[in-house]
Amino acid sequence: MKPVILAGGSGSRLWPKSRAALPKQFLSLTSENTMLQDTVSRLAGINTQRAIFICNEAHRFLVAEQLRQKNIDHSGILLEPVGRNTAPAIALAALHATLSGEDPVLLVLAADHLITDEPAFHEAVVKANSLAEKGHLVTFGIVPTQPHTGYGYIKAGESLNEGFKVEKFVEKPSLKTAETYLSSGKYLWNSGMFMFRASRYLEELEKYSPEILNACKQAIATESPDLDFIRVDKDIFSKCKDDSIDYAVMENTDSAAMVTLDAGWSDVGSWSSIWDVAEKDDSGNATVGDVILENTKGSYVNAEQRLVSVIGLDNVIVVETKDAVMVAHKDDTQSIKTVVDKLKADE
Ligand code: GDD
Ligand code: MG
Repeated sequence: MKPVILAGGSGSRLWPKSRAALPKQFLSLTSENTMLQDTVSRLAGINTQRAIFICNEAHRFLVAEQLRQKNIDHSGILLEPVGRNTAPAIALAALHATLSGEDPVLLVLAADHLITDEPAFHEAVVKANSLAEKGHLVTFGIVPTQPHTGYGYIKAGESLNEGFKVEKFVEKPSLKTAETYLSSGKYLWNSGMFMFRASRYLEELEKYSPEILNACKQAIATESPDLDFIRVDKDIFSKCKDDSIDYAVMENTDSAAMVTLDAGWSDVGSWSSIWDVAEKDDSGNATVGDVILENTKGSYVNAEQRLVSVIGLDNVIVVETKDAVMVAHKDDTQSIKTVVDKLKADE
C-alpha cells in the first residue's frame, strides 16, 4: 500500500494563523508537530511503501523541509502549478504511481486531519486495504454528530465482511437534507480519506470525468523530476477542470465501499473544532502562549506575539498573530471564510 498525502488545501477557516503562504497543514495546531508531519507519523505500525506528496508549487520547500525535519523518506513530491482540487491531484499521483508498471493500492490521506486513536485507525486501514485489493473504492465513514454541510454523507448498503457497499454518496448536501440524513440514523460522514488501486481510480475517473483524466495524462507526460520535486506541464494542467474526488468520482461510482472509522477523527476545520479537541482547564478554556483569563469560560485563546487577556467573556475564540487579531463567538467561526473573502477582494 502506498500513501498519497494531499497537501494542497488553503485552510482559510483557520485565519489568521492559516495563510496563503502557510496553510493549515503546515502549522502545529494540535501537537508539537505540524499536521503534515503527524499525518505521516501516524502511519508507523502499518506496512506501507514510501509516500507520494502532492502540493502546490509555492509550498514545495515547506513540504521538503518539514519532511526533512522528521527524516521522512518519500517517493516524490508532485507539484501542482495551480490548484485544481482533489480529483486531478489524486489522478496525478495515481498516474505517477503506475508509471513503472506497478499498480499499488493507494491510501489517500488529507494532510490536515487529526486522529487520536492510532490503533483503531490502523485496524480500519487493514480492512479497507482488503476491500481495495478486491477492486472497491473505499471510504472511511464517521458516525455524524451534527448536520454539518461541509461533509460528504454515505449511506451504507449490503455487508462486505470488512465493511459495506456504499448505497449512496452525497457530497456537501443542503442543511435540510443533512438534517434528514442525521435523523434517519442511516448516514455516515465521509472522512475524506480513501483507498483504492491506482488503476481502479483511473478507470472510474475515465468513466465519469474523462476530461480530467486526459488533462492529467497529458500534463504528467512531460513530468520533469528536479531532485525531490516532480513538475507537470503548467499550461495543460491549468486548463484541467477543477473538481473534487467526491463530486467527480465518489458520487457516481458503483464500486464504492465503506469501512467504519471510530478513531477520534476530526478534520479540525474551524477554530471551534480546535477548541473541541484541545486540552481544557476546569472552566473549559484552552490557551496557547502568553494568556491571562478572568471570569471566562468555554473559550480558546491563542497568543503568538503578545500577551492576551480576556475578561468576563464566555465561548469566545481569540487568535493573535503578528499582523492580525481575530475575535469570534465560538458558534460563529465558520463565518471567518467571509472575512477572508473580503480580504482577498481588497488585495
Ligand atoms: N494537492 C492538493 N491539491 N490537495 C488539495 C487540493 C488541491 O488542489 N485541494 C484540496 N486539497 C487537500 C486539502 O489540503 C485537504 O487535505 C484535502 O485535500 C481535502 O480537501 P478539502 O478542501 O479540505 O475538502 P473538504 O473538507 O471540503 O471536503 C472533503 O473532506 C471532508 C472531510 O473533511 C470531502 O472529501 C468531504 O466529503 C469530506 O466529508
Ligand atoms: Mg477539509
